[in-house]
Amino acid sequence: MKIFIDSADTEEIKKLVDLKVIDGITTNPTLASKTGKKYPTLVKEIFEIMPEDSIINLEVIDTNYEGILSQARLLSSLDDRVVVKIPCTPEGLKACKTLSSEGIRVNITLVFSSMQALLVAKAGAYFVSPFVGRLDDISEDGVGVVEDMVQIYDNYDFKTQILFASVRSVEHIRQACLIGVDVITSPYQFIMEMYNHPLTDKGLKQFLDDWKNSGEVFITK
Ligand code: G3P
Repeated sequence: MKIFIDSADTEEIKKLVDLKVIDGITTNPTLASKTGKKYPTLVKEIFEIMPEDSIINLEVIDTNYEGILSQARLLSSLDDRVVVKIPCTPEGLKACKTLSSEGIRVNITLVFSSMQALLVAKAGAYFVSPFVGRLDDISEDGVGVVEDMVQIYDNYDFKTQILFASVRSVEHIRQACLIGVDVITSPYQFIMEMYNHPLTDKGLKQFLDDWKNSGEVFITK
């Protein structure tokens, strides 16, 4: 089970890399545009920050088959850690089939139904990214859609990994783990919230207070 940060904010990314908690990163054109940085600069910074054995998802912006192929091959050639994100369209899935046969790892993004996910698996994608929060936003059952995907992929032993995206809460992450997804990608805030429990803080305070009051000294060499 892998945890990715869903962000293009290099300060956030650095903090989670420093905590050794993330296995990879997902970005998209919206997140990249919010940084105010030139895209090549941003990508270079991400390559420098992310660990050697991590996964870096970068998205194409072309929408036709030839254009997607060309951008995907370029992104993939930049660094061995790159997985190319391609939107779930007929042209995108056709490109996915071609790129996958070349050994390029593809993450099909903007997936909102189990039937799209079936086509994604048949196109040979490395990851499929259901956008759970956006389904919830329109009063649909995002987690239920992912449950169907897990069942379908299990039924047919598809190798495409399910990447639970558009996370809106730690509860989403908990549900994703119970369903058995392969990856969750979350904003910085919710990964940090996963560490929290008031009893941890209370217990630690008590340990330290008791130690201090005992007058003990810690072991030295
Ligand atoms: O990884 C997908 C993600 O970037 C979309 O999240 O919050 O824009 O729905 P959101």
